[in-house]
Amino acid sequence: MPTTLLFVLFAWVLPLAQANYFIVTAPTAGTQWANGAANLVTWTKGVGDGIFAVDIEMSRLSQDGITYVAKEVPTAPGALNIFIQDLPQADDYYLLFLNSTSGNMFGLSPKFSIGSSANSTVTANPSVATVTVSGAPNPTVPFATTFPATANGVAMPGWQALTHAMPQMLATVGVVMMCLLGGAWTIL
Ligand SMILES: *[C@@H]1O[C@H](CO)[C@@H](O)[C@H](O)[C@H]1NC(C)=O
Ligand SMILES: *[C@@H]1O[C@H](CO)[C@@H](O)[C@H](O)[C@H]1NC(C)=O
Repeated sequence: MPTTLLFVLFAWVLPLAQANYFIVTAPTAGTQWANGAANLVTWTKGVGDGIFAVDIEMSRLSQDGITYVAKEVPTAPGALNIFIQDLPQADDYYLLFLNSTSGNMFGLSPKFSIGSSANSTVTANPSVATVTVSGAPNPTVPFATTFPATANGVAMPGWQALTHAMPQMLATVGVVMMCLLGGAWTIL
């Protein structure tokens, strides 16, 4: 198979392989947030996965409560500060990244703790947005912050349109590759 053809195939297939992931890079296991401070949350996600905004919720493993942190957070900056106050100190908090309308879950943070400022292991990033959350989890308290609507697939860039068509394309590429490999085997 010509190298250029291989290159073209991989140039298509590799970005696709990365298209569906959402990884919370902070907080990590062992991170300690502090009440009365802004605490940094960061994530990385697949390029061209069409997820322009996420809803962020916080919960505890040992409790049922959910805290609605922020709705429709733009995913592009990859970071958000959460200023917390009066949250119970505990070591079993985690964050959920989801579309709360469709119930589609994108990612979860590892378990982290909230303690006193003396033990805080985080600092805020002053160049990203900050939302405020206060008090114990309470499902009757709506999202503390809702971000203005993002350009949610309205003006779909060519790349995104391409990735939407990707499953079919990948199938086609797969079939083509099989044929080419089959052909190569026959020649060999
Ligand atoms: C969440 O899902 C709903 C229903 O599928 C969709 O209309 C909405 O655009 C999604 N929200 C975001 C922020 O992607
Ligand atoms: C903070 O750190 C000190 C010293 O390591 C420790 O004694 C204390 O229990 C910690 N407090 C919390 C809330 O984790």
